[in-house]
Order: sequence, then C-alpha cells, then structure tokens
Amino acid sequence: MSSTLMRYAPLAAISALPLALAGCELAPKESTQLGPRGAGMEQVANLGRASSPGVPPPSAYALTSREGQRARDVYPELKVLGDISIDEFGLLMANITEWVVPKDAPPEHAGCNYCHNPDNMASYEKYTKTVSLNMLKMTQVINVNWQDHVQQTGVSCYTCHRGKAIPEYSWTFRPQGRTDTILNNRHGQNEPLAVVGYSSLPNDPNGWFFVGNNEIRVNSGTIHPDGRNLADIHSAERTYGLMMRVSGALGVNCTFCHNTQNFAEWNHSRLQKQTAWYGIRMVREVNEQWIQPLAPVFPANMGRLGPMGDPLKINCQTCHQGHPKPLGGVSMLADNPALAEIRWTEAPPRPVAVVAAGVVPLQDGVAVGAAMVRGAAAQAAVEKAQALRGAASPGY
Ligand code: HEC
Ligand code: HEC
Ligand code: HEC
Ligand code: HEC
Repeated sequence: MSSTLMRYAPLAAISALPLALAGCELAPKESTQLGPRGAGMEQVANLGRASSPGVPPPSAYALTSREGQRARDVYPELKVLGDISIDEFGLLMANITEWVVPKDAPPEHAGCNYCHNPDNMASYEKYTKTVSLNMLKMTQVINVNWQDHVQQTGVSCYTCHRGKAIPEYSWTFRPQGRTDTILNNRHGQNEPLAVVGYSSLPNDPNGWFFVGNNEIRVNSGTIHPDGRNLADIHSAERTYGLMMRVSGALGVNCTFCHNTQNFAEWNHSRLQKQTAWYGIRMVREVNEQWIQPLAPVFPANMGRLGPMGDPLKINCQTCHQGHPKPLGGVSMLADNPALAEIRWTEAPPRPVAVVAAGVVPLQDGVAVGAAMVRGAAAQAAVEKAQALRGAASPGY
C-alpha cells in the first residue's frame, strides 16, 4: 500500500461511518413531536416497516337487543353467561369460535367441537372448555377492572388469539443456569436475545417482571439510601431490559412514554407512562391469577406448557403485537357486551390507583415529594395530581 493511501485510509473509514450506521435502517423516517419542543419527546417511525395492527373479523351478526329469554332458562348449567339473553349467548358462542378456533383444526375438532362434545354440550370432558370458562372470566376482569389500561375499547378473545388456539406471542419460565457460583451465574447477560433488542441486558424480563412484585427502579431519588429505594445495579440492568421489551412490544421509542430529561419523574412523562404502569400490573394479575392456575388443566407434550411445566403466559406483545393500541384501538364489545360485565361472585376487587403525574408509586403507597402516603390519602393525592396535570397540559 502506498504511504498516501495509508494516510487516507483511516479518513475514508471515518467518512464511511455515517453510511454504515445509517445502514441499520435505510427506509424513510417520520418524526412526531409528542411533548415540549426539543429532542426529549419525539417519536420516530420507520415508514419502511409500517404494518397493519390487524383487523378483527366482523361479528357473526349484529346484536340488536339484550332483551328476551335468559340463557339459564334454556341451559341451567351455565356458570358465567347464564344471565344474558339466549340470543346474545348464541352470538357470543359463534364469535368465540371465530376468534379462537384454528381454521386448520381437523374436522372432528373444528368449530364448536373444539370445546364441546356435540352429544353433551354441558360436559367439561374437553380441557379446552375448562380453559375457556376461565378465559371468559379473565376477559371480563380485564374489561371491568382494568379500564385504567384498556379504557372503553376493552379486549375480546381475538385481541390475544387472532384466530389461533394458542396466541402467537407468549412466554414461559426459562430453566435457570447454575446460580450457586459467581463464575457461572451470568444473570441472563451476554446472551443477546431479541426481547432485549439484542443488547447484553438481562434477557428474561418476562420471568422477572411479568409475574410477582419486583420493583422497576433505576435511580435513587435521594443522595443517601433512605429505605425507599434500594435499587442496585442488577435492578437497573433488568429495568432497562424490561424497557426494551415494552418498547418493542408496542413498536415505539422510549419517548412514547418518557421525557428523556428524567425517565423516573412522572409529572414530565406522557400519560402513556401511566397507562403502561397499569398495563404491567394487569399483565401480572392475568398471569398469576388466571393463566398460571391452569397448569394442571393443559395436556403435557402438546406445546401448551413450557420446559418448567408452566402454561404459556402473556406480556404486552400478546395484545399489542408491535402497535401502540392493539388492533388499532378497534373495540369488539358493542356486539359482545357480556365480555365487559361481571355477573359472578368471587371477582377480584378493582386495583386502587397508586400512580399519576407528580406522584411516584411505591410498593404500598405513593410518594409525593418527600412525604409518603397510603390508602385514601394516596388516592386523593393521585386525583389532585391528575387534575393539575390535565389543566397544565391538555394536549398530552
Ligand atoms: C373456545 C371454546 C368454545 C367454543 C369454540 C364454543 N363454545 Fe359453547 N361454551 C363454551 C363455554 C366455556 C361454555 C360455558 C359457559 C358458561 O358456563 O357460562 C359454553 C356453553 C355452551 C352451551 C351451553 C351448554 C350447557 O348445556 O350448559 C351451548 C349450547 C353452547 N356452548 C353452544 C356452542 C355452539 C353452538 C358453538 C359453536 C357455534 C360453541 N358453543 C362454541 C366454550 C365454547
Ligand atoms: C409504553 C411506555 C414505556 C416505554 C415505551 C418505555 N418506558 Fe420506561 N417506564 C415506563 C413505566 C410505566 C415505568 C415505571 C414502572 C414502575 O414504576 O412500575 C418506567 C420506568 C423506567 C425507568 C425507571 C425509572 C425509575 O423510576 O427508576 C427507566 C430508567 C426507564 N423506564 C427507561 C426507559 C427506556 C430507556 C426506554 C426505551 C428503551 C423506555 N423506558 C421505554 C413506561 C415506558
Ligand atoms: C390476554 C390474552 C388472552 C385473552 C384475552 C384470551 N386468551 Fe385464551 N389463551 C391465552 C393464552 C396465552 C393461552 C395459551 C395457554 C397455554 O397454551 O399454555 C390461551 C389458551 C386458550 C385455550 C386453549 C387452546 C388449546 O388448544 O390448548 C382456549 C380454548 C382459550 N384460550 C379460549 C379463550 C376464550 C374463549 C377467550 C375469550 C373469552 C380467550 N381465550 C381470551 C391468552 C388469552
Ligand atoms: C389484554 C390486552 C393488553 C395487554 C396484555 C396490554 N395492553 Fe396495552 N392496551 C390494550 C388496549 C385494548 C389498549 C387501547 C386502549 C384505548 O383504546 O385507548 C391499550 C393501550 C395501551 C397504551 C396507550 C397507547 C396510546 O396510544 O395511548 C399503552 C402505553 C399501553 N397499552 C402499554 C402496554 C404495556 C406497556 C403493556 C405490557 C406491560 C400492555 N400495554 C399490555 C390492551 C393490552
């Protein structure tokens, strides 16, 4: 190589760098300002990767009235849907079939027979009927108790199932490597997986955050530890892993929820961060109270259970599938109103709001500035902060 060439080679390499970086994603971008001007609250969309959020199938027919004979008068053994009209019941059975039963099911299992023995519709001999009864209750609980997340849009079986018996995006517990020595315990790191954007962050945000009660924390709000935040470096790494997971599931950038000026602060974030806070709690409840208890119901060796014997659980992507609102925010409840009401006993109570603009949620209350409040006082603080925030920034 001549000496001139050698002198210019590094320069050439440096000038080629932007090209190489831009090569990550070449398609045109569109950026939208979501908050105060500046780079802190901007949403960048890659137009080349735009996809449809999915279109729900039309209702088998339109529900015209909820009046008339009750379903229980005809089928006395109904456990969840007995109080609705027989017309509405028939429509819901037809729609459920469209939403959940795979199109490629063998004829003997196709349609209603996926869950029913045609000679005895009341029987629970097929495990799919037991699962469905539980899923019916779960869907009602999501739509009634978690409106802070799903609003009036709500969800149907289709939001997760999309015409398949097993929803496409799910997760199960992963076998842990050795954890008894420092040498072998990698805390799921240096093993890049898509869920954490191929970074070397701890790669099981599902198992760490989508069941149980682990705190999602990075920063300490105080210089010295004061018992309110003992987040360590692992907690920080896991939190970032989760945030990669959440962003990917919704197809958004961090600034869809956060102001990069301060990721922890609530009063500079978008309301979407609050919606997401409820989403995380909703996902935990669904997994723990509605899906995990089905473990003994699912058959083994049919892809219904993970390597640790637990059923397939949900995360944000199960519903969202890469979009900020599942199915573009289209609701299926108008023709299926029974999915948004609870008429059975032992329903879990509605969660108490412990998060809003200006207040930081803690395990058992909220922190307002330096003070810590619980219960009714926490609720009042949340409402006040919400009102203030609504008045200050009606745009977002
Ligand atoms: C994905 C599972 C699933 C599919 C598919 C399904 N059902 Fe059902 N069906 C259920 C569940 C669960 C119940 C019990 C609801 C309750 O107890 O409130 C039920 C109850 C019934 C009952 C009442 C049985 C009794 O005597 O207690 C009838 C009738 C019925 N379904 C008809 C149908 C028809 C017709 C179809 C096809 C168009 C269908 N179902 C498809 C899950 C399903
Ligand atoms: C869909 C909304 C959403 C998106 C997108 C999102 N976050 Fe978060 N983030 C949250 C919520 C909600 C919390 C608080 C969780 C809690 O307190 O339980 C949070 C917490 C955090 C925290 C912890 C702050 C603290 O209190 O210590 C950090 C840091 C953070 N996010 C960074 C990021 C980064 C980096 C990205 C992009 C890779 C991102 N977030 C994307 C909703 C989001
Ligand atoms: C929040 C997401 C979600 C919603 C909503 C939902 N399901 Fe499911 N459902 C799941 C997941 C995840 C599985 C897989 C569990 C497994 O295989 O371990 C599943 C499994 C099932 C199965 C078992 C299928 C098989 O072949 O093993 C049936 C039947 C079912 N759901 C019916 C329903 C019905 C009926 C509704 C609406 C009333 C509904 N689901 C709503 C997430 C959901
Ligand atoms: C059971 C289905 C379901 C699951 C699971 C779910 N969501 Fe949602 N989410 C919805 C629905 C439905 C809406 C739309 C509500 C509406 O129309 O405003 C929504 C809306 C949102 C929004 C507001 C979007 C906007 O444009 O304002 C955010 C943010 C969000 N979800 C975050 C999450 C996060 C984070 C998770 C996982 C921790 C999650 N969701 C899990 C059903 C779900």
